[in-house]
This record gives sequence, structure tokens and C-alpha cells, in this order.
Amino acid sequence: MNKQSKKSSNTVWHSATVTRQRREQKNAHKSAVLWFTGLSGSGKSTLAHAVEEQLHQNGLNTFVLDGDNVRHGLCSDLGFSDDDRRENIRRISETAKLLLEAGVITLTSFISPFRAERATARSLIPHGDFIEIHCFCPLTVCEQRDVKGLYKKARLGEIKNFTGISSPYEEPENPDLKIDTSRLTLEDSVEQVIALLRARNILPAPASKPTE
Ligand code: ADX
Repeated sequence: MNKQSKKSSNTVWHSATVTRQRREQKNAHKSAVLWFTGLSGSGKSTLAHAVEEQLHQNGLNTFVLDGDNVRHGLCSDLGFSDDDRRENIRRISETAKLLLEAGVITLTSFISPFRAERATARSLIPHGDFIEIHCFCPLTVCEQRDVKGLYKKARLGEIKNFTGISSPYEEPENPDLKIDTSRLTLEDSVEQVIALLRARNILPAPASKPTE
């Protein structure tokens, strides 16, 4: 079954009077989707949460959708087959779209290994509001880090379909931003993301210092 097909024809869209635009005006900032993709252990969640921390401290409305967390609830019925990953990313794409409408700067942290599903996620979001950030980190480094001990288990065959080992990761061909987390500090990585948000007018430019 095509999971994206709509089963019922007996539903009618209700247009909200409180629109995204009105929410953005109230918040005094735009909403956007920052889509972090990369191997397990590449630093997606660490970076997404660090960016969120900085935005939150500056008074912005934010939310992180995190792969491991979402798989405890909304996506707890899904495993790691190709089909389950597709469905995982479809649900997250739709959730991110809702949060965007709610005026929230939404940061998603999922391996999201397939180009097609990342392209679909982008296509759901108005042009310019979807920012793909590739947390690049060589597999060997992710494996050395092995923060959760999962690479070791995958090498031993105790975990099937493990991304980078026994399941593919299709690198983004043209991400909005590529961050080499094996070389950059977390602080510098956060700064790169913030700089991009400013360049895209999602965040206002910093107030210039008064000249003496
Ligand atoms: S995705 O492929 O569907 O985007 P997602 O980001 O939700 O994956 O979940 C990845 C996290 O699940 C990893 O960071 C890791 O902690 C855990 N995990 C458990 N099994 C696997 C697996 N087979 N492949 C990749 N990650 C796994």
C-alpha cells in the first residue's frame, strides 16, 4: 500500500483563521524546518539541541524532533527496515509541517538515510523554509565514538540493518549546509547554523555595535 495515499475522500479541509503568518507576527520571528541528517553518532542531536538552546535563550519558539525520542512514542511501532524508515520520515515530515504552521522553528534529528524521503520532506515545506543540514562525519569516526555501543553490536551481527554497516546512507548531494563534525567544535558548528539562519533572514541580523 502507498502509505502516503489518503484513505478517506470524506474529509474537508478547514482553514484556520489563526494563520502561520499571524503566529509569526506574534512571535516576532519566522518559523522554519532545520533538517539534520547524518549517520548515527555523527552529532545530529547534539548539534540540534545546542542550536535550540541558543535560539531559546534568545527568546525564539523552538522544538527538536529527535529520532531516538520519537521512536519511544509516535514511531514506537517502527523498526529499521527500509519501509519502516520511510514511514518514520514521512510521519516526521508531516509533524514538522504542522509545527511550522504553529510558528515554531523545528529542528529534526533523524538519520533519514534516503534521498527520496528527504526530497519529499522538502517538497512539503514552502520553498526556502526547509534547511537541510548534513552532519558529516566519517563512518570510522562514528564507529570509534560508538556512544551507544550500537556499532559494536552491528559489527557482531547482533543488530540488523544498521546504517553505514548493513543498511545504506545516501549522502545529501546539495545540502543547504554541510558540517564536518569530526573537525569542527560544537561551538563553531552552532555558529555556522546560526549564520545560515541569519543569511536566510530566518533570524534577524545581530544589532550592530554603536560606534563611539
Ligand atoms: S531513521 O533511519 O529512521 O531516520 P532514526 O534517526 O529514527 O533512523 O533512528 C536512529 C537511531 O536509532 C540511532 O541513532 C540509533 O541510536 C538507533 N538505532 C537502533 N537500531 C538502528 C539501526 N539498525 N540503524 C540505525 N540506527 C539504529
